[in-house]
Amino acid sequence: MPETLTEVDIPDYPMERDARCPFAPPPQMLGNDSGLSRVRIWDGSTPWLITGHEEARALFADSRVSVDDRRAGFPHWNEHMLSTVDKRPRSVFTSDAEEHTRFRRMLSKPFTFRRVEGLRPAIQKITDECIDAILAGPQPADIVTTLALPVPTVVISEMLGVPYEDHEFFQHHANVGLARYSSAEDGQKGAMSLAQYLINLVEAKQKNPAEDAVSDLAERVNAGEISVKEAAQLGTGLLIAGHETTANMIGIGVLALLENPEQADLLRNTEDPKVIANAVEELMRYLSIIQNGQRRVAIDDIAISGQTIRAGEGIIIDLAPSNWDDKAFPHPDKLDLSRDAGQQLGFGYGRHQCVGQQLARAELQIVFHTLLRRIPTLRLAIPFDEVPFKHDRLAYGVYELPVTW
Ligand code: HEM
Repeated sequence: MPETLTEVDIPDYPMERDARCPFAPPPQMLGNDSGLSRVRIWDGSTPWLITGHEEARALFADSRVSVDDRRAGFPHWNEHMLSTVDKRPRSVFTSDAEEHTRFRRMLSKPFTFRRVEGLRPAIQKITDECIDAILAGPQPADIVTTLALPVPTVVISEMLGVPYEDHEFFQHHANVGLARYSSAEDGQKGAMSLAQYLINLVEAKQKNPAEDAVSDLAERVNAGEISVKEAAQLGTGLLIAGHETTANMIGIGVLALLENPEQADLLRNTEDPKVIANAVEELMRYLSIIQNGQRRVAIDDIAISGQTIRAGEGIIIDLAPSNWDDKAFPHPDKLDLSRDAGQQLGFGYGRHQCVGQQLARAELQIVFHTLLRRIPTLRLAIPFDEVPFKHDRLAYGVYELPVTW
């Protein structure tokens, strides 16, 4: 596409999905061979939108691409994010290079392969308890409130050391903070209460540490490596990133399986951990729930796919079209749990790739497989076109999923 686009040619972003194909990325994003184009966002600016798999990977891995949202040209999500840019302490999400490595190191301990594998029995237990309760309860049951939300909430609370009694509080505040079009005021209120909650928790763990992630962060505070505020910011990031994302993936993933019964059979009838693991990768590819684009800004000129992204220009890498790029995944609109989905980008790519991906994978593998096994006759209790999808959230999913069996 030429760089001399007229004002009217540039489409608005975010783009809407086709209501008739709610699993598909917005149709406007598909079929662009060059893998990038210009879009217009809420403040009138026109950053690049990346929709190609190869281009997305190249830019995710390019050190000339920054996540620092204080830089001019950064394509902010909304007014709230812009208005708080100088108030928010730097975090793992918004720092580059050495600063990012420092934050990332602080988060590494709770997410090591060994620690996450060690959580599998606890994940299996809470999953079984939720399913016991579903089977004992009335029909229809809502998968979102009975399974998709409680499993990640319990798991992340345990991992962080957040008392479970507080889960409703942080679920609510995290939700306000994540609204896609949140006003500056709403967003700030939610973010502030969560931040204060985490500050109190870090201070409590500084005095009485336990075996959990907030205690790990409190230890760094005691050692003078980070401030209480920074620790709270990191903890808040984990809390938000760790429960709503996985919850959405469970809810919409169950729906995708119910809509593709032969694929559900495939997953139900296997015991092979590799097959189960690949099924989750394919669901991640097919659904790409992070729908507001990964925001970046170029700090140098970058030649890519016959175009030049200039220093200071915004970049939005959209995971859904990249995961539906037919050059990388033939027939991307088919949910095919046996295809090799190892290169899916649902957790991002490069140095900011999801810290919690192993934890999320463990939860998804256990939840989908156990649910299909234990309730083989599970089916949707409402017509498909009445399922309420989360078009207005940063993470896609379903608000509720009534099922029967
Ligand atoms: C299915 C569930 C999940 C999905 C789809 C998901 C998706 C993502 C994506 C796409 C990124 C990359 C952001 C970017 O490059 O701009 C990311 C980063 C991150 N995720 Fe996740 N995530 C999930 C679960 C989790 C969990 C369970 C945790 C923690 C408990 C977590 C913590 C993080 C953190 C801290 C980052 C920032 C990493 C960095 O900037 O270096 N996520 N996630």
